[in-house]
Amino acid sequence: MIQASPLKERIAERFSRAASFYDKVADVQYDIAQATLALIDKHSRKMLDIGCGTGRISQQLLSHADSVLGVDLSPGMIKFAEATHNSSRLSWLNADAEDLPLEEQTFDSAFSSMALQWCQPIDKAFGEIHRVLQPESEAYLSLMCKGSFAELENAWTAIGEGKRTNDFQSHNNIVDAAKACGFDVVDKTQSFVTYHDTIFELLGSIKAIGANTVTRSQSDKKMLDRKGLLALENAYRQNHARDERLPLTYQISFLQLKKS
Ligand SMILES: C[S@@+](CC[C@H](N)C(=O)[O-])C[C@H]1O[C@@H](n2cnc3c(N)ncnc32)[C@H](O)[C@@H]1O
Repeated sequence: MIQASPLKERIAERFSRAASFYDKVADVQYDIAQATLALIDKHSRKMLDIGCGTGRISQQLLSHADSVLGVDLSPGMIKFAEATHNSSRLSWLNADAEDLPLEEQTFDSAFSSMALQWCQPIDKAFGEIHRVLQPESEAYLSLMCKGSFAELENAWTAIGEGKRTNDFQSHNNIVDAAKACGFDVVDKTQSFVTYHDTIFELLGSIKAIGANTVTRSQSDKKMLDRKGLLALENAYRQNHARDERLPLTYQISFLQLKKS
């Protein structure tokens, strides 16, 4: 049983709701996961996939491991993964990356794509990965870092609404946190950009996959009406439009961690 904070319950609920159509719309997440898979440089016996979502990437991880345990905070994602991917080499667990109900030193690799930005600060999640890995094991990770959604944050600020996007940790802070946990780190950062015709489509692309929980307190912020959203779109266009489309940057930290 997960002891989830109200914030984590909200995150889990929104991803759970998105589970049945996530794979149809999460294209940039798929591309980032493929770039994360490319970091894997050896075959494992038991691999952990943290924040596995619908399990589509856990299934692909079977090319790199004898068995994969997919772990996710959202019960709806785990239910979907279980119902969709049928292999005796795959198993599923509804659990929090920051409090894994797993024995220490039981995995010889870990993978996570586009999930750990929800763990802030990231130290606890790194500590858990370190704890469950055997010595000499590796973790292959990608997560959103500072610079992500910068255009959207600028546009909110330009219309006087202040910050309405999530805070992302800087790539350097993420790397330092991994080192402080005792990992050797190979790292890089890379931008992925999606393009949208309208602000409605852009905001919808975040909401559709269930990633629209704002992790800071939003008690003083009202939902914008259509007029407000069009003002947001205007500000976005003025500062960022490319070929009349609205770009949205996903700035990604890629990490290959080794437990010595
Ligand atoms: C953007 S999806 C990525 C899913 C999958 N890794 C992929 O690449 O398609 C993020 C996933 O992280 C999960 N998640 C968020 N916070 C988590 C936490 N603290 N522990 C475990 N999973 C978490 C969400 O429930 C969601 O399924």
